[in-house]
Amino acid sequence: MAKMEVKTSLLDDMIGVGDMVLLEPLDEDSFINNLKKRFDHNEVYTYIGSVVISINPYRSLPIYTPEKVEEYRNRNFYELSPHIFALSDEAYRSLRDQDKDQCILITGESGAGKTEASKLVMSYVAAVCGKGAEVNQVKEQLLQSNPVLEAFGNAKTVRNDNSSRFGKYMDIEFDFKGDPLGGVISNYLLEKSRVVKQPRGERNFHIFYQILSGASEDFLCKLKLEQDFSRYNYLGLDSAKVNGVDDAANFRTVRNAMQIVGFMDHETQSVFEVVAAVLKLGNIEFKPESRVNGLDESKIKDKNELKEICELTGIDQSVLERAFSFRTVEAKQEKVSTTLNVAQAYYARDALAKNLYSRLFSWLVTRINESIKAQTKVRKKVMGVLDIYGFEIFEDNSFEQFIINYCNEKLQQIFIELTLKEEQEEYIREGIEWTHIEYFNNAIICDLIENNQTGILAMLDEECLRPGTVTDDTFLEKLNQVCATHQHFESRMSKCSRFLNDTTLPHSCFRIQHYAGKVMYQVEGFVDKNNDLLYRDLSQAMWKANHSLIKALFPEGNPAKINLKRPPTAGSQFKASVATLMKNLQTKNPNYIRCIKPNDKKAAHIFNDALVCHQIRYLGLLENVRVRRAGYAFRQAYEPCLERYKMLCKQTWPHWRGPARSGVEVLFNELEIPEEEFSFGRSKIFIRNPRTLFKLEELRKQRLEDLATLIEKIYRGWKCRTRFLLMKKSQVVIASWYRRYAQQKKYQKIKSSAIIVQSYIRGWKARKLLRELKHQRRCNEAATIIAAYWHGTQARRELKRLKEEARRKHAVAVIWAYWLGLKVRREYRKFFRANAGRKIYEFTLQRLMQKYFLEMKNKMPSLSPIDKNWPARPYLFLDSTHKELKRIFHLWRCKKYRDQFTDQQKLIYEEKLEASELFKDKKALYPASVGQPFQGAYLEISKNPKYKKLKDAVDEKIIIAEVVNKINRANGKATSRIFLLTKNNVLLADQKSGNIKSEVPLGDVTKVSMSSQNDGFFAVHLKEGSGAAGKGDFLLSSDHLIEMATKLYRTTLSQTKQKLNIEISDEFLVQFRQDKVCVKFIQGSQKNGNIPTCKRKNNRLLEVAVP
Ligand SMILES: Nc1ncnc2c1ncn2[C@@H]1O[C@H](COP(=O)(O)OP(=O)(O)OP(=O)(O)O)[C@@H](O)[C@H]1O
Ligand SMILES: [Mg+2]
Repeated sequence: MAKMEVKTSLLDDMIGVGDMVLLEPLDEDSFINNLKKRFDHNEVYTYIGSVVISINPYRSLPIYTPEKVEEYRNRNFYELSPHIFALSDEAYRSLRDQDKDQCILITGESGAGKTEASKLVMSYVAAVCGKGAEVNQVKEQLLQSNPVLEAFGNAKTVRNDNSSRFGKYMDIEFDFKGDPLGGVISNYLLEKSRVVKQPRGERNFHIFYQILSGASEDFLCKLKLEQDFSRYNYLGLDSAKVNGVDDAANFRTVRNAMQIVGFMDHETQSVFEVVAAVLKLGNIEFKPESRVNGLDESKIKDKNELKEICELTGIDQSVLERAFSFRTVEAKQEKVSTTLNVAQAYYARDALAKNLYSRLFSWLVTRINESIKAQTKVRKKVMGVLDIYGFEIFEDNSFEQFIINYCNEKLQQIFIELTLKEEQEEYIREGIEWTHIEYFNNAIICDLIENNQTGILAMLDEECLRPGTVTDDTFLEKLNQVCATHQHFESRMSKCSRFLNDTTLPHSCFRIQHYAGKVMYQVEGFVDKNNDLLYRDLSQAMWKANHSLIKALFPEGNPAKINLKRPPTAGSQFKASVATLMKNLQTKNPNYIRCIKPNDKKAAHIFNDALVCHQIRYLGLLENVRVRRAGYAFRQAYEPCLERYKMLCKQTWPHWRGPARSGVEVLFNELEIPEEEFSFGRSKIFIRNPRTLFKLEELRKQRLEDLATLIEKIYRGWKCRTRFLLMKKSQVVIASWYRRYAQQKKYQKIKSSAIIVQSYIRGWKARKLLRELKHQRRCNEAATIIAAYWHGTQARRELKRLKEEARRKHAVAVIWAYWLGLKVRREYRKFFRANAGRKIYEFTLQRLMQKYFLEMKNKMPSLSPIDKNWPARPYLFLDSTHKELKRIFHLWRCKKYRDQFTDQQKLIYEEKLEASELFKDKKALYPASVGQPFQGAYLEISKNPKYKKLKDAVDEKIIIAEVVNKINRANGKATSRIFLLTKNNVLLADQKSGNIKSEVPLGDVTKVSMSSQNDGFFAVHLKEGSGAAGKGDFLLSSDHLIEMATKLYRTTLSQTKQKLNIEISDEFLVQFRQDKVCVKFIQGSQKNGNIPTCKRKNNRLLEVAVP
C-alpha cells in the first residue's frame, strides 16, 4: 500500500532519516550509521535542515536524468527524498521569485565531489531556466567553461584523479525572468608548484598530457613537441596514465569547448604555444662554470631546447640566455648585476615556468569572463557557485595547504555565522523565543592566521620584507615568539613548554589546531612561496617576446613601467581575495552542500567509518545538527502538516474547513501531545523532539493502514454489492428473456394447431358450401337451359312468323312494283323508244365533255409563256380540241404577259421582234444580241462636256450614239468615229474633238450590207449623187451591229415610209469614190483572238477575216 503512495514528503519511504535533524539519539555513531545505511541504499544525499550532505558514490547513479530534473522541478524542498536538485531548485526559485541573490557553497575535502556537485547544480539550473537560442548559447558557454578550466587547473593527485588545483567562484547572472545572462568567474591561488614538481603518484596539470596524447603530429611539430612523455622533465612519469581517463579524447573536448566559449583560433594557438614553452623550459639544464673571481657561474648544457623555446615564443635567444645567467638588482638609480649559480639558475627556470603557467591560467579565466560576461547593464540576479579546494591534511603540508586550510576556516566561519543567523531570523520571523546555543566558533583560528598584527600571515609578510638574511627558520622563530600563547598554535620551539617533549612535532614545523583537525606545517619554502619571486631579468625577457600573449602576461617587464616597489606577497593577495569573497557571500542567501568522501580508494560501495567520522568532525556537521535542533528539531508549514496528519483526528478527517493553523491545533490537542513538545509559529509548527515527529509518523502509518483496510473493506463491500446487484439484474433479465421465449414457443405451437384445426373446419365448410353452390348452379343452369330452349323455341317461332310476314310484304311490294312498272311502261312506251339512242349519246358526250373540262381546269399549266407543259389528251375524239385549247391558252397567256408591259418595254420588245425578223437565222451574230438590251445612247453626249459642240450641232433627239470603227478605204485600217442616229440623219463625228465629219439624211441611205458571220462589219450604202455620197459608202464595224441596223431600219421606215434594204451576204460591193470594191468575208485564223481583221488586198478587194 505504502509503495503505491505518491510522495508528498521526504518522510515517505525514508531510509534511515532523510534529515539528520530527526536523528534519535543524536550522536556521532548514529550519525555515521544513518549515513552508511543511506549510502548502502544508494541514497547519497541527506539533509541537515536545508544543508545537503553529499557522499561521493564513486560511480554513476541513475539519479541525474532529465526525468529526475522534472521530478524535482517546482517541488518544495522537503517534498521528495533529499537530492542536490532539491537544493538547486530551492535556490533557483527563491532567486527567480523572491529576488534573493543566492550562493551555493560547496565544501569538503579533496575528492569528496565538490566539482561534480557544482556541475550538477549548474546543469540543473540550465535545464530548468528559460529556453531560446540566445539563452541556450549563454548556458552552453557557461557549461563549457568547465572543461577548459579543468584541463588547465585540475590534476591527478593521490586523493582525486581530477583534483581542482585552484579555487573557483562563479557568479551566474540572471535577468528578472530567471533567464541566464552570463557569468563571472573568480579564481583563487592555482597550485603552481605542481608545474615543476609533483609528489609521488601524482601528475602535472591535465593539459600537458592531453596535448601530447591528443594533438596531431602536425600540431605537435608546430609546437616543437614530441609525443613521448618521458622526454619532459616536468612530467612525473610514475602515473602519467590515469585509469579510465582518455587524455586524447579530453583534448578534443577541450578544444571544442574553447571554440564554444569563444576563443579565436590564434588565441588557442598562442595558449598551446605557452603550454609547450613551459613544458620545454623543464628540459633546460645548467652546468657549473667557475670564474676567475671565484664566484659560481652556470651555463646552459644544451642550447637546442632554449633555441626552440625562443623560436616558439619569439624571444631573442641571447636575452633569455642572459636572464638565466644573471640577476640584476636595481636600487634607486643603481643597477647591480650578479651571476647566478646552478641552483639559482634552476630556481629562475622553475620560477619562470610556474609564473608563465599561473599567469596563463589567470589570463584564461579573464578571457572566459570576457566571453561569458552579461551583455546588458540591467540589474541582475546572481547565483554564486563556490567550488573551492577542501580542507587538506597531507604528510608534508606546506604553504599551499596553509593557505587552503585558512580559506576553509573562513568558509566554516561564514557557515556558522549564516546558519545561526538564518536560524535566529526564522525564530524571530515565526515569533518563537530564541534560546542561546553553544557551539564552537572558529573565529579564534581565523584570527590566529589573519590578524593584521599578530597573525601568521602578517608575520610571514613582515619576515619577507625585512632586510637582512631571511630564512624559513627565522620566520618560525618569529612565530614561536608571537603566537606561542595561542590556544590553537603548537610548536616545539615555543616558549610554551607543552610541546617541548612532543616528538611528533619536528623542530622545523608548527602545528595549528584547525576546526577540522590538527595540521602540521613544514616551514620550509614558506618565505619563498610567499615572496613568489621572479627575477626582473626574466620578466623583462618575457616582455620582449615577439608573442602577444606572453608579452601581455608580463606587463611588469616593460622597462618604461619599472616599479621598484615589491609586489604584494602571495599570502596577502590571497587574504585580500578571500576577504572580498567573504564579503560577497555575506550579501547572498547561502545554500550549503557538504561533500563527504566515503573512502580513500576512489572506489564505489566502500564506506570507511573512520574516514567519514573524521570528515563529519571537521566539517562540524554534528554541531550543525545541534544548532538546527537547538530549539526545535522539526518545523513544517501548517498546510502540509495538516494535509499529512489530518487523518489522525476525526474533526480534521477527511476535510478541515477552517484555517490550517487551527486545524493543526485541534489535531495536536486530540492527539494529546504534551505542550512543551511543540510551538506554534506564524506560518509553521515547530516540533521540539524528533520523537514526537516519529510518533506522529507512526500514528499516521497505522492510521493509513487502518484507512487502507477501511477503504479495502468498503471497496470489497462495494465490489460485492455491485456484483450482486449486477447478477440480480442479469438474472431478472435472463428470466424475462427465457419466459418470453417459452411463451413465444408455446404461443406459436397453439397458433399453428389452431390454424390447422381452423383450416380443416374451413375446408370442410368450404367443401360443403361448394357442394351446395354446385348443386344450386346446376339447378340454375338446368333452369337456364330449359328457359333458353323455351325462349329459343319461342324466338324461332316468332322469327319464322316474321320472316313469313316479311316475305309476304316483299312479295306484295314486288308484285306492286312489277305491276306499277308494267303500268308505266305501258303508259310511256310510246315516247321512249324513238329518240333514246341519240339522247343517250348526246348525254354521254355532254357528260364526257363536262368531265374533260372539269379535269382540264385542275391540270392547267403555269402562266409562263415559255412553259411547254400541256396535259395529255384523254380521249382521241378530243384531239383537235385539245390542240386548239393549247393554242388558245398559249395565246391568252402571252396576251396576259404582254398586258403587263409598259410602253417603253413594249417598244424594246418591238425592236427586239424587229431584229428577230430581220436577222434570226440569217446573221450568226444575232443569237448573241438577243440577251443584250438595246440601249441606243451608249455615249452620253449631253453629259460629257467634251461633246458639247456636237450636242449643240445636233438639235434632234438622238436615237443611237455609239463609237464605231470606220474602215479606211485605202488600207482597211480602223479609225474610231462617233456614230449618231437621229430621226432624220446619220452622223459620223470625230471621237476626240466631236467635230461632225459626215452627215447623211436618212433618205440618202439606200442599203445596209453585212456578212452572215459573227462579225460587226457593215456597210452603209448611199444614194448615188446625193450630197453625202461624194466620198463613197461607209464601211463601219460595231459591237452593237444588230441594234444599230434594227434602229436604222425602224427609223428609216418611220421617216421615209420605205423599208431599208438590208443585205446579208459574205461578199458585197461598196462604192469607194469612183471605185467599187468587193468586201469579202473569209474564215480567218484565231491569231488575234476573236477580233476580225480587215485587209485591202487590191483595188477591188477588201478581205475581212472572221475568226
Ligand atoms: N555525484 C557523483 N556521482 C558519481 N561520481 C562522483 C560524484 N561526485 C564525485 N564523483 C567522482 O568522484 C571524483 C572526484 O570528484 P570531484 O572532482 O568533484 O572532487 P572534488 O571535491 O572537486 O575534489 P578536489 O578538491 O580535489 O577538486 C569525480 O571525478 C567522480 O569520479
Ligand atoms: Mg574539484
